[in-house]
Amino acid sequence: MKRVDFDHYSQLSAAAAAMVAAVILENPAPVLGLATGSTPVGMYEELVRMHRSGVLDMAHVTTVNLDEYCGLSESHPQSYRCFMNRQLFSHVNIPLERTFVPNGMAADADAECARYDGLLSALGGADLQVLGLGHDGHIGFNEPAAAFTYPTHAVTLTEQTIQANARFFEGIEQQVPRKAITMGMGAIMLAKKILLLVSGGDKAAILAEALQGPVTPRIPASILQLRPNVTLLYSK
Ligand code: GLP
Repeated sequence: MKRVDFDHYSQLSAAAAAMVAAVILENPAPVLGLATGSTPVGMYEELVRMHRSGVLDMAHVTTVNLDEYCGLSESHPQSYRCFMNRQLFSHVNIPLERTFVPNGMAADADAECARYDGLLSALGGADLQVLGLGHDGHIGFNEPAAAFTYPTHAVTLTEQTIQANARFFEGIEQQVPRKAITMGMGAIMLAKKILLLVSGGDKAAILAEALQGPVTPRIPASILQLRPNVTLLYSK
């Protein structure tokens, strides 16, 4: 794993955007695995800037997002589809029909998971998968568990994750969905490159456990120790 430490979040964001831009520039039909949460927001802002300044044409990009809350429609401001439209898709020229996010409103969650895995296989995996890190060590919404889950699956969020994400729901904890659909470890581990973004001293301890402790599904991000081509960008 290559690790780069930055003094400032703005530097992490610029470096992350540069890595994403490189994948877009070097692949004729790049597939980007994208993440939500507050950490990649600066990276998306940088990508939008690059696009606006004419540096980055995204017309041939396909995106697959890691996860989505169950029960939130696309128009709900806290749905991950809405987040992605707001932060990136509505400002760049990626064809919207080439942007994929699990459907959290699907009546049959298992069927939706199978559909999403079919899509991921058809695309042949991501050229670059962007990941954030949850306070409990989750990646996507792969929460701590007794075993790693490889396919896309529906999950019940941990109390810690619900609390952590309550800030986006104006502090009204009751409104945070309890369930989500997430890409499993299979598609994450099959990405050609992984870009792990971690910002905040409050994540230093869980990050150290994930990178230096045993590989265990109790700390989902620890699985990243098993593969090459992971770049970690960290800022306090
Ligand atoms: C959410 C997302 C994750 C994200 C994590 C960390 O739970 N499902 O993909 O990495 O939060 O978010 P933040 O960057 O806001 O700390």
